[in-house]
Amino acid sequence: MNKKRPVLKIGKYEPRFPLIQGGMGVGMSGPVLAGTVAKFGGVGTIASVGLACNSPHYDGTNYFEANQLAIKDALKKARAISGDGVIAVNCMVALTDYELHVKASCEGGADMIISGAGLPLKLPAYTADHPDVALIPIVSSKKAADLIIRRWEKQYKRLPDGLVVETPKYAGGHLGVLKMEQVEDDAFTLETVVPELVEYLKKEAGLDIPVIAAGGIWDRQDVEKAFELGARGVQMATRFACTYEGDASDRFKQAYIDAKEEDVVLIESPAGLPGRAIRNPFVNDYLEGHVKSKPCIANCLTHCRYKKTRETFCIAQALVDAFNGNWEEGLFFCGSNVVKATKLERVEDIIRELFE
Ligand SMILES: Cc1cc2nc3c(=O)[nH]c(=O)nc-3n(C[C@H](O)[C@H](O)[C@H](O)COP(=O)(O)O)c2cc1C
Repeated sequence: MNKKRPVLKIGKYEPRFPLIQGGMGVGMSGPVLAGTVAKFGGVGTIASVGLACNSPHYDGTNYFEANQLAIKDALKKARAISGDGVIAVNCMVALTDYELHVKASCEGGADMIISGAGLPLKLPAYTADHPDVALIPIVSSKKAADLIIRRWEKQYKRLPDGLVVETPKYAGGHLGVLKMEQVEDDAFTLETVVPELVEYLKKEAGLDIPVIAAGGIWDRQDVEKAFELGARGVQMATRFACTYEGDASDRFKQAYIDAKEEDVVLIESPAGLPGRAIRNPFVNDYLEGHVKSKPCIANCLTHCRYKKTRETFCIAQALVDAFNGNWEEGLFFCGSNVVKATKLERVEDIIRELFE
């Protein structure tokens, strides 16, 4: 592996291994997971979404303010674990208070902002006071990457420091495409998009921006395959959710261990986007058209069907329920590789197995 392992340089940061642990909200990739991944040589990523919910700063009325404080708390805690490892924060563009998440992350000392669930067209404006913070959009096509690059160059004279290509075919959470039929579409596989984007950056745009592959990467063979496609790094989430250091409850991890192929389903989330999750009583009811209403916590999404029609549910609440281990009521987001989780693992062992 060593002969082929690329060096992943993102802005001024160079993690020991070309690995990013993907952000997982709400809370699944909190400070302990991110700090531990960073300690053992990958980029550890805290998901900023909904951190307020399990934070002492939240009194039921001050969600947005509490979330910023919770982001800073999480960064402090992660840093205490990671030492001088590289810590990122995943901030979703679709959030009402996206700008505040980004600013709190920069002020809290994040090394990188990784940003998807929409095009992060204004991200450089929000980080202007923190030029050392590396900026990494998540895209699912060359077209999206091109649009971001052009806009950033023109408007901010800044380029992305890396680009994560996430394939909807295997990834977890929201899948980065707008329509169900796009999930399985070959146009959005890593095999199609990674080489296309690498070629475009090098030959057409003349830019040296590392491409990082995400979605369905589990073992060393998958990692090597991603590098052969031209990726200089991999982003992995599902495997890291089911670790001793994963921040979610034991019951959340047990759901991963128990999941079989037939339990992994696609749902249309309240954001109107396809997502992948484990079939549990809550998802089962939802798929059958019976919606168990969950009250909106804080208008956290810019586009949310629940806010408008009340025909769906509050996704933040459903994800917090899953984080806390409520099997009946939670939304257990997962990648399709969840079926490979058979036991709890240690972060250090996973990284060793992949790279050493
Ligand atoms: C439980 C869970 C929650 C996730 N939450 C987020 C999130 O908050 N923001 C985001 O950009 N991606 C999110 N993702 C996507 C991951 O960061 C990652 O890119 C993707 O799952 C990679 O595929 P893998 O899980 O097969 O490794 C989530 C994935 C999972 C499994």
